[in-house]
Amino acid sequence: MIRNILEKSIKQALSTLDIKEGKIILEHPEEITNGDYSCNIAMILAKQVAKNPRELAEKIVAEINKNLPKEISKVEVAGPGFINFYLSPEFFVDENRKILKEEKEFGRSKIGKGKKVIVEYSSPNIAKPFTIGHLRSTVIGDAIANILDFSGYEVIRDNHLGDWGTQFGKLIVAIKNWSSIEKIQKSAEPIKDLVALYVKFHDEAEKDLALDNEARDWFTKLENGDKEAKNIWNICVKLSLKEFEKIYERLGVKFDTAYGESFFEKKMQEVLKDINKLKLAKESEGAYLIFFKDDKYPPMMVLKKDGSTIYALRDLATDKFRKEKYGKDVVIINEVGMEQSLHFQQVIEAEKLLGYSNGHDRIHVKHGFYRFPEGKMSTRKGNGIWLEEVLDEAVEKAKVFDKDTAEAVGIGAIKFNDLKRESSKDIIFSWDEALNLKGDSGPYLQYSYARAKSILRKAKEEKIKKVDWKKIQENEATNLEKILYRFPEVVERAGAEYSPHYIATYLIELASAFNNFYGQGKIVDKTDSNSPYKVALTEAFSIVLKNGLNLLGIQAPEKM
Ligand code: ARG
Repeated sequence: MIRNILEKSIKQALSTLDIKEGKIILEHPEEITNGDYSCNIAMILAKQVAKNPRELAEKIVAEINKNLPKEISKVEVAGPGFINFYLSPEFFVDENRKILKEEKEFGRSKIGKGKKVIVEYSSPNIAKPFTIGHLRSTVIGDAIANILDFSGYEVIRDNHLGDWGTQFGKLIVAIKNWSSIEKIQKSAEPIKDLVALYVKFHDEAEKDLALDNEARDWFTKLENGDKEAKNIWNICVKLSLKEFEKIYERLGVKFDTAYGESFFEKKMQEVLKDINKLKLAKESEGAYLIFFKDDKYPPMMVLKKDGSTIYALRDLATDKFRKEKYGKDVVIINEVGMEQSLHFQQVIEAEKLLGYSNGHDRIHVKHGFYRFPEGKMSTRKGNGIWLEEVLDEAVEKAKVFDKDTAEAVGIGAIKFNDLKRESSKDIIFSWDEALNLKGDSGPYLQYSYARAKSILRKAKEEKIKKVDWKKIQENEATNLEKILYRFPEVVERAGAEYSPHYIATYLIELASAFNNFYGQGKIVDKTDSNSPYKVALTEAFSIVLKNGLNLLGIQAPEKM
């Protein structure tokens, strides 16, 4: 990568000047007119050599200039002592040629070669709706998995279904009291019925305290393999999975595994043994809790008063299993909402104590809340917003296009709206923002892609010649070229920080550079000797944009 060339130049200069090197940071200047890369090394080292930063920068630049690599056309000192690099026209031409050659492979790397990573995401709860929170997890987690895969990691995509827990006791009581499992099986909208029953349970339990005890008993029965309880549970799981499958299909998301919490039910005894061996837990008021040193975190409950297991213990069992199955070096990423931050801090700390984790192999990627102007939603109270309705409405709003395109645009809009900002940030949802063809939106990117494709079709019709790479005489690169070559480094950063938004914001910058380029004069023009190169640039743009959209899980229709 070009960064390595620049770094080498700087290091060489420092060594000739007999200066002990520091950490070399290369950034893109805010304004593209200030060069392609900027380095602050002179400001960092100035003190050490008792010079003022500008003076030192001048010296370094003079050294670099004695042996300027062909990829660099100019090096300058700027401001208080920045060293700014301008890449050469030949460099940009070569990069474009490379993009056209590598096509859908452009941006792929081997950074993660030989490393395994489990990306756990989506993880909705059985017999509850697929919420907007689960949508965020699905969209962000899937993008992270795509990016890591593109970066050479072996990626395992896991859906950690919430198919176990005391809520099933409540659900069974509600079904038996106010409906029947047969009725639900025959219903046109079984999941909505189940959620309604779950909500009714909470309303009724406020008046009738016996209901909670009944629910606890039924969950214990379920844990002990009671036939009736198991049957009801099984049916609820199947009905929910069918519903979730529809959503995944629409979102274009696929998993490698979906064990679900229930799978780990049988593996929890072993974790309890490990906990006991190390004396990590104590009894307190009948419950069993792991205490952390110096009260680093509040104690974490692993067994309830009635002996039933809970979420936290299932998570420990899940990770023990993962380490056994995929090897101790496997990295585990949980894409789960911010509200579970403390839970994951506790789980990860406990895993360190248990020897399941070395502390660097467990990552909680958090997403913030998704707010509709009406306020946050809660399934328990029943004022939840159904994801499917949101998707339908998005597609409905995109109905100016044909059916398939409308689906791609509507879903793309929702996904991009989620991916364009740091995932930990909250989203206040606005239809205008998500669907705006001009703003930083999914449809804007798709529209730019379709525009590029239409230009390429026209170039073919008009028989514009292929570029003769040897003959190109480029004097000054366009802003479009100055952004195109950056794609691989953006992918690298997005992977290293588990942050797809770097790709999203990059694509917006890229698309606006392309749209400017498009506005500057005809691309397809038989009388213009530069037309073949402009067409090649358009193609390079379409390739990079499509690769980026692929990583984000957003479709790129050829026509719009
Ligand atoms: N099913 C849970 C929920 O909807 C999320 C599961 C997250 N993953 C985990 N390993 N705990 O809140």
